[in-house]
Amino acid sequence: MHRIHFGLTACLMAFLLFSGCGGKAPEPDHSVGASLSISDVPLNECIAVEAESGAGSLVLVSNGHGWSFPDAQLIQIYGNKPACYSLRAADLQLQPEALTALNAMLSDYSETTGDRSVNVVAAWRDREMQESLYNRAVETHGEAYANAYIARPGGSEHHTGLAVDLAVWHADRSTSADFTPDGDRLWIYENCARYGYILRYPAGKENITGIAAESWHFRYVGVPHAEIMGIKGLVLEEYLDFLQGYRVDGEHLYFGEYELWYCESDAIFVPKFGEYTLSSDNRGGFIVTVKR
Ligand code: DAL
Ligand code: ZN
Repeated sequence: MHRIHFGLTACLMAFLLFSGCGGKAPEPDHSVGASLSISDVPLNECIAVEAESGAGSLVLVSNGHGWSFPDAQLIQIYGNKPACYSLRAADLQLQPEALTALNAMLSDYSETTGDRSVNVVAAWRDREMQESLYNRAVETHGEAYANAYIARPGGSEHHTGLAVDLAVWHADRSTSADFTPDGDRLWIYENCARYGYILRYPAGKENITGIAAESWHFRYVGVPHAEIMGIKGLVLEEYLDFLQGYRVDGEHLYFGEYELWYCESDAIFVPKFGEYTLSSDNRGGFIVTVKR
């Protein structure tokens, strides 16, 4: 990611220019850990940077927010995973951060429950793979089904390398079925947020996600975002709206050891010192996540 650092004067000038340009943002909600009213990272300890849209764990990709296919680092799962889960194909790939979290989650799941039947059946997909999947679904099940379950080419978050589809092997290992949270597997629904994963298309949110409930599709958004989303019951679209209420020049959001704020793409401010991550939301904004 290309970054330009400005001096403090430029930073403050930019702040004066951009403060108050927020548009209509939801009211900040204090129920998630806003125990401190004074930021640990005041604006005069920030620097302005430039960043490209499309990088980071919080990108929203959907039929309404297409993916521009920026360069992303991908790593093959085969050869880089524990033995406690299996793969449909040896060429499945994910972003490294998403794979590390998946490995940790499925190792802990398997250690806790003894179950080794999880099968990862889909991960990163390019546009052509998504197109053939969509066309096949139209041919086999009709257009209504395809539109409900398969994103249009360019609108699938599988393009990012941050999403996986899970399945479960039957006892004789001859076939596997869609993942559902039955029995031991409920553990994954209850614990995935600790590893930065969310169930991306839950039942009851179809009108917001635009996709029918999928009990098998998990998306890496990172920590602490998955946990905040879980506590507040928000899907990614809602969470990104919610974060827009916490501006760099306004109140910040606190959760455990994290401090978060939202920036418009033309005024991105990050801490001068300390640990932080910066993620595009793929819709014109950026989220800064500081570990305090
Ligand atoms: N099944 C999800 C929506 C996709 O095709 O990306
Ligand atoms: Zn999927």
